[in-house]
Amino acid sequence: MISQKMEEELNKQLNEELFSSYLYLSMRAYFEDKNLAGMAQWMKLQTEEENLHAMKFFDYIVRVGGRVKLEAIKKPKFTWKSPRAAFEDALKHEKYITGRINFLVDLAYKEKDHATATFLNWFVDEQVEEEDTVSKIVDSFKLIGNDPSGLFLLDRELSQRNTAGAGEPEN
Ligand code: FEO
Repeated sequence: MISQKMEEELNKQLNEELFSSYLYLSMRAYFEDKNLAGMAQWMKLQTEEENLHAMKFFDYIVRVGGRVKLEAIKKPKFTWKSPRAAFEDALKHEKYITGRINFLVDLAYKEKDHATATFLNWFVDEQVEEEDTVSKIVDSFKLIGNDPSGLFLLDRELSQRNTAGAGEPEN
């Protein structure tokens, strides 16, 4: 059984993961509109991955005898000033999520809730992976600058992502 405070915070994180999914869905719509099919595909899989993260929180809350409580999902941003700005926003968002996961781990240790700390370990690793992946894409945008052929090549490279990465984080 988890504490009431932990239950509240895990429910909040479930909402944050659903919002992440919604945010990347909005980014997908932006890339679809710009005819950047590879980036849209990358965001489609990222949307699915965030939904799987949300379900991990859902299942864990149920497993430890808590009560899942769904709240409204915040409206995501609609547009960005450039494809690079969208990925920079994605990186900013992932850093925020890392902060949330760290906060949850701190809370679990404070409450001597070792089961929840162990559950959260997967997310600690996952966030290293998430930040690294998006950060590399932002670096590619920096290298490209204003070169349209570079944007074309990056779009093609991102189209090759073919998994929502729901399994164990890569090492
Ligand atoms: Fe659910 Fe992108 O972290």
